[in-house]
Amino acid sequence: MKKICVLPGDGIGPEVIDCAVKVLTAASKDLEFVYADIGEAAMRKSGSRLPEDTLELMRSCDSSLFGAITSSEESYHESPVLKFRKDLDLYANLRPVKTLVNVPSRQPIDVVIVRENSEGMYTQDEVFDDKGVTTHRRVSKRASERIVEFAIDYALRAGRTKITCVHKANVLRASDGLFLSVFREAVKNKGRNLEASEQLVDSAAMRLVTQPGTFDVIVTLNLYGDILSDVAAGVAGGLGFAPSGNIGPVHSVFEPAHGSAPDIAGKGLANPTAAILAGAMMLNHLGLTREEEIVRSAVTGFYASGHLTSDLGGRHGSASFTEHVLKNIPS
Ligand code: NAI
Ligand code: MG
Repeated sequence: MKKICVLPGDGIGPEVIDCAVKVLTAASKDLEFVYADIGEAAMRKSGSRLPEDTLELMRSCDSSLFGAITSSEESYHESPVLKFRKDLDLYANLRPVKTLVNVPSRQPIDVVIVRENSEGMYTQDEVFDDKGVTTHRRVSKRASERIVEFAIDYALRAGRTKITCVHKANVLRASDGLFLSVFREAVKNKGRNLEASEQLVDSAAMRLVTQPGTFDVIVTLNLYGDILSDVAAGVAGGLGFAPSGNIGPVHSVFEPAHGSAPDIAGKGLANPTAAILAGAMMLNHLGLTREEEIVRSAVTGFYASGHLTSDLGGRHGSASFTEHVLKNIPS
């Protein structure tokens, strides 16, 4: 039995996580779900957006499934997402984006973005002075090595053939230059069986839209990975299609890449695909590969039979989508 800490969160977080838990429960008898508060619900109950009890429960479970939270606008609040990534040492953020349904005027995409998840321009390390604000952006050799090795191992294990390092070393010569030199060294050693390439982040964003088929695995720094994964999701049909996994040596947290989507929250319109596929990634991580396959084919079966969710102009909201996916799961 694997114990999963479920963190529904805010906005559409609870809506899509509810669908994902239903699908996971139907696909596997080996999961036990325990719930914890994060975000606004946690703030109301305990005065913290990420209470210590929640972190403790996450630490004690085999993995966690997280929805999304609405960010606090108060500048002194530490992001709960950054906090659990740091506290649980979740240094790798794995973001696969794959076209499941043909989207008019967009080319098919099947890319895995491996995003450095512990440093770079994503640590809220900002210092005010009388002239403005300085944001610290650290790139360390150790963190670069960890993520590049993770990406190469992942690519080889997943049977991928190409890896691209995305950076901005033409301007950020020292920091992104270090990341790039670590990449070059690592592909010489461990990644010899992969076709390695390098690309500047701005043109990589363009090429993800115009020629997405040229990418396979991308390894990149924290903020670039954040932005590029939403670009890739857009190519596949929207943020409802992009799952993600935060992975460390001991702990892991799986979540849709999207946020709390206040514009559609409470309307039953959220596409749960990303949350359900995040659950499938979690099953894979826990070694439940047969169950992972059941979940994946139930989701792809929905799209393959011509159905469309409302984010792509179809008639299926969260509930009817989930009903169809559940019907595709053998009892
Ligand atoms: P968002 O990802 O919440 O939404 C962007 C757009 O995509 C919206 O139009 C939304 O309706 C649509 N969308 C997102 N998920 C969808 C789904 N499953 N089905 C259909 N449409 C979907 O990003 P936004 O609007 O920039 O941020 C909203 C809030 O979420 C902010 O407070 C932000 O800080 C937070 N956020 C939280 C994250 C997390 O908890 N991991 C990640 C990203 C943003
Ligand atoms: Mg993001």
